[in-house]
Amino acid sequence: MATADANPSVQEIELGAEASFTDLPYPVEIGRDDYFLVRDKTGAYHLLSAICPHSWGQIVRWDNCFMCPDHGWRFELSEGICVNGPRAQMYRFEVTVREGQLYAAIPDDRTTWA
Ligand code: FES
Repeated sequence: MATADANPSVQEIELGAEASFTDLPYPVEIGRDDYFLVRDKTGAYHLLSAICPHSWGQIVRWDNCFMCPDHGWRFELSEGICVNGPRAQMYRFEVTVREGQLYAAIPDDRTTWA
C-alpha cells in the first residue's frame, strides 16, 4: 500500500486494484484504523470509518447494516447514514479511481472529520 502527499493535511492512500474489491462493503485496514469500502447510489466509491460519529465506538458489520455496539446506532451500507437514531452519518472519505487503482483521501487531523 503506497502513500502520497498531494496535500499536507490529507493523505492519499492507495487501496489497490478496483477489480480486487468484488464484495462490498469491503473491510479495509489503514495503519491501526478500520474502514469499509462502499459504493453509493451513484456508483461512487467511498471509505467509511469504523469510528462511530456518536462517541467513537467501534462500528462493525452486522446483518444488513453497520452497527455500533456501544449504544446501538445502526447505519445503512452504501453511505453510512444512521437509520435508527439522530441525523448522523459515518465519517466518509472520497475514493477516486485512476488507471484501475483506488485511492482514498483521508485528512490527517481527525478533528476535521465531519
Ligand atoms: S459510540 Fe457509537 S452509538 Fe454511541
